[in-house]
Amino acid sequence: MVDKDKLPRHVGIIMDGNGRWAKQRGLPRTEGHKKGAEVFRDISTYASELGIEYLTFYAFSTENWKRPEQEVSVIMDIFRDFLHEAQDRKAENEEKGFRFRFIGDMSKMADDIKMLATILEADSSDKSHTVINVAANYGGRSEILRATTRIAELVAKGEISSEDITEDMFSSMLYTAEQPDPDLIIRPSGEYRLSNFLTWQSAYSEFWFSDVLWPDFTRDDFDKALNDFANRSRRFGAV
Ligand code: FPP
Repeated sequence: MVDKDKLPRHVGIIMDGNGRWAKQRGLPRTEGHKKGAEVFRDISTYASELGIEYLTFYAFSTENWKRPEQEVSVIMDIFRDFLHEAQDRKAENEEKGFRFRFIGDMSKMADDIKMLATILEADSSDKSHTVINVAANYGGRSEILRATTRIAELVAKGEISSEDITEDMFSSMLYTAEQPDPDLIIRPSGEYRLSNFLTWQSAYSEFWFSDVLWPDFTRDDFDKALNDFANRSRRFGAV
């Protein structure tokens, strides 16, 4: 059971451990990503049923291009399958009130993925029960640089002055503009780092770690994270 009065509004999830899960079973790493994508679907549905308003899943980082070509290619195929399936399940997703967003530099993605992602964002843009951010070719530092460049251009054009650069203004230049910062960040698989995920937005996030590998992550694990979160005392620098 989860205390619905103390739910985080925004949960970020680093879907880690897919490779190790596959290795443990003598399977290719890519099988771990496929199972991980199923867990992504299930946890999205469950979190939405609980009433969580924003979810951000780290699906592919700016650094993940360094992986073997075949692994990258399978992850891209998983994106494709997800995007086609989202079209097929349009009515179901509408009923769930899912709004899909892709955060990251999508310009580097294959044309069909870019196009399908743009369509999915547009088709779901009037939904608001749960916003699902898929971080794809995402890096927190590159997001900060991108925002900085955009702000520098506005200053250079004389459209704003340096005094206009506040924290809120800076946040509005990020991919997550108009969304609350993540209250809770979940990282399974026994790793204790942020790995360039939501670098700016995580300044006051609560962290929850677990040894469970992402493909084994269940609704019960999600409940545990939420229950721990409900007992945290968040002071945002105050006493
Ligand atoms: C990290 O585990 C996982 C990834 C780099 C890829 C995650 C992508 C998916 C689960 C597909 C998501 C799809 C959609 C549509 C959102 P790892 O490979 O680093 O695991 P390891 O540390 O055990 O090697």
